[in-house]
Amino acid sequence: MQSRRRRFDSPSSPSSSYRTFLALLTVLASQALQASAVVVPRSNCYVFDNTSRLVDFSSWIGHPFEYDGGETDLVIRFCKDVETRSQTGYVDFGRFDKYNNFVSGSGHVDYVQGFYNGDLANCETSYDKQGRTAQVNIICGSCLNGRCKGGLGCICNVTYESTCRVFLELAIPCEKPGPRVFKGFTVGFHPRSWELVYDGMTRIGYEKSHHEFSFGTEQRHVTLYMTAIASLSTLVQRPIIKVLPESGLEFKLSGSGATGSAPTTLSPTMLNVEWRCERARDTPYEVNITIPVEGYEPIQFFLAKMCEHRQEKSGESTTGWATFGVLSCIFTVSSTLFCCGGFIYKTRVEQKRGIDALPGMTILSACLETVSDTRQSYTRHEDLNTAFASEASWERSPSPAPPTKGTSKSNGSRYGAI
Ligand SMILES: *[C@@H]1O[C@H](CO)[C@@H](O)[C@H](O)[C@H]1NC(C)=O
Ligand SMILES: *[C@@H]1O[C@H](CO)[C@@H](O)[C@H](O)[C@H]1NC(C)=O
Ligand SMILES: *[C@@H]1O[C@H](CO)[C@@H](O)[C@H](O)[C@H]1NC(C)=O
Repeated sequence: MQSRRRRFDSPSSPSSSYRTFLALLTVLASQALQASAVVVPRSNCYVFDNTSRLVDFSSWIGHPFEYDGGETDLVIRFCKDVETRSQTGYVDFGRFDKYNNFVSGSGHVDYVQGFYNGDLANCETSYDKQGRTAQVNIICGSCLNGRCKGGLGCICNVTYESTCRVFLELAIPCEKPGPRVFKGFTVGFHPRSWELVYDGMTRIGYEKSHHEFSFGTEQRHVTLYMTAIASLSTLVQRPIIKVLPESGLEFKLSGSGATGSAPTTLSPTMLNVEWRCERARDTPYEVNITIPVEGYEPIQFFLAKMCEHRQEKSGESTTGWATFGVLSCIFTVSSTLFCCGGFIYKTRVEQKRGIDALPGMTILSACLETVSDTRQSYTRHEDLNTAFASEASWERSPSPAPPTKGTSKSNGSRYGAI
């Protein structure tokens, strides 16, 4: 750091200050990368504060807060429901079950929770048939009216807007905000899915290397799609890859996402992963993919890859097939040439005709002769020969003379016998 400061102090040329700037950037980037993946909380009881920091209230789920309202008491069960309790019974003022019902507030209210789909009786028409509903404004700290200081918090104020809707103020000692999440960012196996990263947070299964979430040995390619909110997409930088152990798995990353192009919701960028097992292993290889985001916690997820056996380079196998193709091509061409050459030689020089002129035919016929000789095929041969002759004579009925083919056959070539 000191050397850097000295450089800053000295009257520096533009290039040296540029280098210093780069060095500082590198330091900042490496500091940003020291953090680990932001994992999706284990429940839907979490919220982002007004600076996009994750606040996880999972440990508060179901915690009851009671408000003594004389005849009717009001009870909030944190991230569960709101209900009134009186002698006539419980009335449900809504349940907390959907996402996006827990948001950051404004003014003295830090967070706002929505509770919907409570009891319908006499509230059928309110809020699009959602029945009784409640809104809980959460204040981190204590009530403005000085009610119930200390403890795990309490309900400060209850206001019934109607018999169907209630507003409450709840003061609690809030959880500390966590890492700054790059909201809206997704990573999935399809352009419109988010199996790996949802809303800037890594999902369980990809937050570290899991055996049961690993890719099989035979899977050589994986394509991942990334999306981000368009207005923030330029903050996304080039991914950083780490493979553990470092050798044994050949890993290649390509696609628009690999070069750090800006993904948007309408045009996702792609990360094409290509891997090949160079060494077999009992436990999966771990691929750590970190996508730095300017000003936010980096996106980080892990891909696990099984390697039950070594795999050939895809180039190697193609070369093998190519060699085989060329060799068989040469073989086909040369045997055709040999056949044609022999045929021409025999027809021209040895004055042979038709099938007799085919090269190798004498050898073949000799073989056939040996075989047919042992089977005493003379009679059959003669039958065939006469059949052939009669057929020929039927074709050319006026000519009584046997055709030339017939003559050559009776000359002793017997391959017609088989
Ligand atoms: C994953 O890679 C990032 C950046 O290269 C690094 O900071 C982080 O410690 C790695 N995580 C693990 C668990 O190896
Ligand atoms: C965010 O909320 C806190 C209180 O919860 C407030 O002090 C701060 O000014 C707010 N920041 C912005 C940017 O609204
Ligand atoms: C009680 O709630 C109402 C409506 O939500 C609000 O206007 C009022 O300031 C609250 N009173 C106190 C003392 O917090």
